[in-house]
Amino acid sequence: MQTQNKFNHNTKIVGIIGHPIKHSFSPLMHNISFELSGLNYIYLPFDVPVSSLKDALKGMIALGIKGFNVTLPLKEKILPLLKDASEEANIIGAVNTVVNEDGILRGYNTDVTGIIESLNPYKEELQGSMVTVIGAGGASRSVIYALIRNFKVEHINIVNRTEQIAESLKEYFSTKMLFTHIKSYPLVPPDLVELFQKSKLIVNTTSMGMYPDVDDSASSIPESFHKDQIVFDVVYNPVKTKLLRLAESQGAKIVTGLKMFVEQGARSYELWTGEQMQVDKVYKTLQSYFSV
Ligand code: ATR
Repeated sequence: MQTQNKFNHNTKIVGIIGHPIKHSFSPLMHNISFELSGLNYIYLPFDVPVSSLKDALKGMIALGIKGFNVTLPLKEKILPLLKDASEEANIIGAVNTVVNEDGILRGYNTDVTGIIESLNPYKEELQGSMVTVIGAGGASRSVIYALIRNFKVEHINIVNRTEQIAESLKEYFSTKMLFTHIKSYPLVPPDLVELFQKSKLIVNTTSMGMYPDVDDSASSIPESFHKDQIVFDVVYNPVKTKLLRLAESQGAKIVTGLKMFVEQGARSYELWTGEQMQVDKVYKTLQSYFSV
């Protein structure tokens, strides 16, 4: 019997580079999407440590790989190795998507698109508001960029385990984006109740609450949340983290990390293929892979 193989000389290759790479759900998401749209593409994971990054980029050009996602620990390291990067990638200092345009590698940050699309339903409410961002790493930089650039918030609180890092982020955005209405705080849960209460939006950008540590949360105090709030968690496994469950039980509107994950993927997909991802179908399919 002859084996049927849908891949052939016309198959276009995209993928993800990072180290370690085995936990990534991006191959699943993009291959589901290629299948749904009938595109002759395949998305593969490539385990690339920092020491191999330069060679990997040369290899990708030589093999005609159409583009790729970039994850830890390469998101920042790749920036100086690219020919060109988008304005947001440069300001945030991180690239999560590369497009190979006939041998020229261009960097983008589609996490920002994922954040914007996830928060867009609340755009009017967020204008002029006070927001609190938990965490001060790469994801936090993308969130803060989007909040300043697209949502015109009035005031940002950065809450972080290491307060000094939050303080540097504050300095960074006042220099890079001339946004000075930022305050930093240490992550001390009982002290945060009042700050959370006063915030229109609370965003968790840390890995707190991520499987298997599903009982972790920046706040376990119900009084932190109320019905006039929006609470967004970038963690997507589980889809409803402890933070989101608690916020929802107090009447707050919630935004899942899975929404952001699919939306950032949709933007990368569009950059590589020129086609729209069927985001609702992909979201529903992915949901069944995670504990809700
Ligand atoms: P990413 O690119 O995903 O944002 P990162 O740059 O490593 O990842 O940043 C991780 C952020 O989550 C940091 O703000 C980190 O706090 P520190 O600056 O104190 O390291 C925060 N973080 C990670 N694990 C945490 C935990 N268990 N409790 C509190 N904060 C945590």
